[in-house]
Amino acid sequence: MKTIIINGIEDELFHTAAQALKDGDLVAFPTETVYGLGANALNPEAVKKIYQAKGRPSDNPLIVHIADISQIEDLVLEMSHKAKALIDNFWPGPLTLIFRKSSKVPDIITAGLDTVAIRMPNNPIALELIERAAIPVAAPSANLSGRPSTTECSHVINDLKGRVGYIIDGGPCDVGVESTVLDITSDIPMILRPGGITLEMLESVVGKVDTDAALELKGNVKPRSPGMKYRHYSPKAEMILVYGSQDDVVAKINELSAENRKKGIKTGVLSSLENAQKYCADTVIVTGSVDNLAQVASGLFDSLRKFDEENVDIIYSETFPERGIGRAIMNRLKKASAKVIKETEI
Ligand code: TXA
Ligand code: MG
Repeated sequence: MKTIIINGIEDELFHTAAQALKDGDLVAFPTETVYGLGANALNPEAVKKIYQAKGRPSDNPLIVHIADISQIEDLVLEMSHKAKALIDNFWPGPLTLIFRKSSKVPDIITAGLDTVAIRMPNNPIALELIERAAIPVAAPSANLSGRPSTTECSHVINDLKGRVGYIIDGGPCDVGVESTVLDITSDIPMILRPGGITLEMLESVVGKVDTDAALELKGNVKPRSPGMKYRHYSPKAEMILVYGSQDDVVAKINELSAENRKKGIKTGVLSSLENAQKYCADTVIVTGSVDNLAQVASGLFDSLRKFDEENVDIIYSETFPERGIGRAIMNRLKKASAKVIKETEI
């Protein structure tokens, strides 16, 4: 399939892409979180193409993207006070809300669930595209299934060129990790995936919010967000998360790198800005300062993808504080990692 690359809203083919989206083609587009792979949400045949292009398991439901609040009426059964407050505060923005779905939402989007995920992205290109296509747009992250999400047009081209009709270039995404997925179908909302809108921000608007981790502690380990059970975001090489104090982590990774070198194994390190000079590995990729977690999030997937270009055999990653957007960063790093080295093992 020929893939047409479109240079933002000013490109004369932008309108063609919007029309093609409406008519059933796949269009990859930027959002403030990551790039999305869009299809007409009301057309099951078009949505089916998303699963094929990504190689995505069919039991993993999709988020429906809207550009105007009036579009939600047809898609959901009810709108609670808490939902209204969240929408007022955080839309457009990196928050996906789970509602009970109306019969207009095709089953292929929700993988048979009776709920539907909806978000209004905060990106002018995404909003203009959805508005011109005049339909709700189903869109997962625009990466091959299992790979790190895409936060630059070049990432999307690498994964999806030849598999989709159009890719719209909107430059790098600001937030860098996907939206927070919040289930609001029960009294106490529950975070199913931490993301751009933090637990602290949500609680400041609706009071107590549960997390999936808390649910697991209560003995219910079935993830309510089907997508979270899969290994995700993975660079090609095996990644190992190393916990511990900064000095211990640096010493442990340097010791392992030296052993690897003797065996001819090429080592990569995902490092904070603060520690970058201390490593003697083959490749050190800096994702940002521990004092600026928003910066770490924004460069995270690009950093993971860079290891593929460097052809490393094994990657060691530092950990980041699990507060604010740090929860989303650590969630993605844990999912991307095959193993961890605990503090007690150092
Ligand atoms: O930032 C984002 O959310 C990006 C951009 C493109 O908007 N999209 C994204 O989509 O990350 P995707 O498909 O990669 O992740 C969607 C997540 C999955 O974990 C999926 O299981 C969950 O949302 N999800 C979708 N519908 C759901 C539902 N009805 N109930 C529970 N979880 C749902
Ligand atoms: Mg994804």
